[in-house]
Amino acid sequence: MKKIRLYDESAKSYHNRYLQIQQTKYQAIVTYLIESPVLDVGIGTGIGLSALFDFRPVIGVDGSVEMLRIALELIKDFKPRDESIMLVVASAEMLPFRNHVFPTVVSITVLQNLTDISQGIQELERAIQADGILAVTTLAKTLSLQEIEEMLHLEFAILTRFHNLANEDNGLIIKVLKE
Ligand SMILES: C[S@@+](CC[C@H](N)C(=O)[O-])C[C@H]1O[C@@H](n2cnc3c(N)ncnc32)[C@H](O)[C@@H]1O
Repeated sequence: MKKIRLYDESAKSYHNRYLQIQQTKYQAIVTYLIESPVLDVGIGTGIGLSALFDFRPVIGVDGSVEMLRIALELIKDFKPRDESIMLVVASAEMLPFRNHVFPTVVSITVLQNLTDISQGIQELERAIQADGILAVTTLAKTLSLQEIEEMLHLEFAILTRFHNLANEDNGLIIKVLKE
């Protein structure tokens, strides 16, 4: 909750400061995506929406109302007005969705913020469909790729690993083989 409050307080400066760097990360992962809809867990101010545009519908979840408020402003500027982007205020550790309903789940630079990272990963795994694609990145200084991989319980094939993506994130993209 403390971290969410920090994001609430810094939403506008976050957006301006990290626009380019976060866009680089989304552009790197988007080339591996195949199917819609996309669930973006920790969508923040919607920096990734331009990269994810062709994969609409996009359902974006975030715990910070102020981050989502900026994402909402971005969507309003899309022409024609876009109804296929939905924003949901919720915890990444307790996603308000049924099991295994999304063919694509992404979470970019979010896990390191969670109080219970393993619970956050379990929720990503619960949301993804069998044969779906899951893309996760986290700040390299807080979490290693090995730690992330060890927390995954699904059967999966690794499509790619990222080291120092945009000079700060580790990440991986997996294809789920079995729930
Ligand atoms: C570094 S930002 C990344 C935002 C977006 N993915 C991007 O790349 O610009 C981390 C985001 O995770 C959200 N967040 C942190 N902890 C969360 C939690 N427990 N549940 C939901 N969202 C959370 C924050 O509000 C923030 O928007």
